[in-house]
Amino acid sequence: MNLEALNKVAEAMVAPGRGILAADESSGTIAKRFDAIGVPSTADTRRDYREMMFRTHEAMSKHISGVILYDETIRQNAKDGTPLVKLIEKAGSLPGIKVDKGTKALPFCPGEVITEGLDGLRERLVEYRGLGAKFAKWRAVIDIGQEHGQPSYTCVNANAHALARYAALCQDEGIVPIVEPEVLMDGGHDIDRCLEVTQWVLKETFQALFFNRVALEGMVLKPNMTVPGKKSAKRASVEEVAEKTLRVLKACVPAAVPGIAFLSGGQSDEEATAHLDAMNRMGPLPWHLTFSYGRALQHAPQKAWSGKSENVAAAQRAFNHRAMMNGLASLGQWKADLERKAA
Ligand code: 13P
Repeated sequence: MNLEALNKVAEAMVAPGRGILAADESSGTIAKRFDAIGVPSTADTRRDYREMMFRTHEAMSKHISGVILYDETIRQNAKDGTPLVKLIEKAGSLPGIKVDKGTKALPFCPGEVITEGLDGLRERLVEYRGLGAKFAKWRAVIDIGQEHGQPSYTCVNANAHALARYAALCQDEGIVPIVEPEVLMDGGHDIDRCLEVTQWVLKETFQALFFNRVALEGMVLKPNMTVPGKKSAKRASVEEVAEKTLRVLKACVPAAVPGIAFLSGGQSDEEATAHLDAMNRMGPLPWHLTFSYGRALQHAPQKAWSGKSENVAAAQRAFNHRAMMNGLASLGQWKADLERKAA
């Protein structure tokens, strides 16, 4: 393993002022997003939409350190024939690839899932590396259920093990793993239950990484923030989310990890930015804290675009704005009135 090279990529992914664009929605998920804006999901519309973002020069060159792609996208060309990967590279950003194959029901654990995709992963990593991928992503999903005492030990342990097997394979093939154990914000649990479960999940994950000999200097962690469930009546302030998220991370994430890039998980665009900003204001911290947002970076541009070529400039402005706001939040320099000014 060339740990120096892996560490260089990991550091670039979490460089101050920059973060990751998660554009790796599976064909099923992007179809749902397109449905909401009345756009049919075809290989061409998916290409046009993603090309629009990758050609947003200011966002891509100043605020987006890397882009997570889906299998279809890493093989696609822009309308003029340029590979989409080349557009990303030309902007000075790093191409990455989602390599998990989604979730399946976990036997005897009602309501819980295991992420699949380890079989044949080494060969796929070799291929993706050839297509330009510098990093990869694997997402484990943990649901805080109300009915069956979820999460179960079985689910937390099996998912941590799969994440660690994936991460070790990535590093062995010269690819930086994004390790993403996502505790969902679905449900009615309060913030303290999220804190408890996230802490357990991260402890198990780092133990599995250790047993699988993963080098922490050559990875990026992508966790959920510590937030109340969407249906919880007990809401939490920005300060409470920031303070409790940092409390969990400090208890669980060794300082050898170069950076932590959060998922947005269903938070509103502005909440996701405000929370990241508040945490960075509470520094100094042992790791870089930034974003790896899907929805919280793409809601606004998706709506502005709505599948029409005449809307591309407006959509690019919307994307640039969110990328800039989150870039500032990664430095602890965001202000709410910057949002008002743009509106
Ligand atoms: P969200 O920011 O929309 O949660 O997506 C991030 C991601 O990559 C989930 O795997």
